[in-house]
Amino acid sequence: MRKVILGTIAACIFAGTAVYAEPIADRKAAMKNVGMAMGSLVKMVKEQMDYDPNVALLSFAVMNNASIGITSLFPEGTEMGIDTTAGPKIWEDMAGFNTAMVKFQADTAAAIAAKPADLDAFKAVFGPVAANCAACHKVYRLSQP
Ligand code: HEC
Repeated sequence: MRKVILGTIAACIFAGTAVYAEPIADRKAAMKNVGMAMGSLVKMVKEQMDYDPNVALLSFAVMNNASIGITSLFPEGTEMGIDTTAGPKIWEDMAGFNTAMVKFQADTAAAIAAKPADLDAFKAVFGPVAANCAACHKVYRLSQP
């Protein structure tokens, strides 16, 4: 266990000092996790799956976690390459992109803090979280075919 924890810490330190070896792959992986977390939340909102407060909290936590530090994975020079869908607006307005990500982080943190116990409480916090996806993608992501 101790070894695993130390290994993880070492990996984090290494990731922090690596000169963005894989920023595009890393940010895409983080967003893919956000997308997967969204999948479960949408199923519960649409009542295709019973509401489970633990699934809700875990999914919001995955999103919150992905939002932390992700904007550092958009260094100059990674505007293009291995099928990134990041839009040019990110590099034209990095401050605006950061603000949008901070808002996503705050909304997911608020959803976690609310600890929604039932479907109605969940729907109330899900809406504001979900609004972030399209709001950011519309401006900062290339339009999808
Ligand atoms: C503040 C901006 C921002 C927010 C908020 C945001 N995204 Fe993204 N998302 C991006 C950007 C930028 C990309 C493109 C990354 C790339 O291809 O380099 C992306 C890509 C994705 C991808 C594609 C990942 C891949 O495999 O290439 C998915 C899926 C996704 N987002 C889902 C979501 C969902 C669901 C939400 C809301 C719960 C969300 N995003 C919120 C900026 C955002």
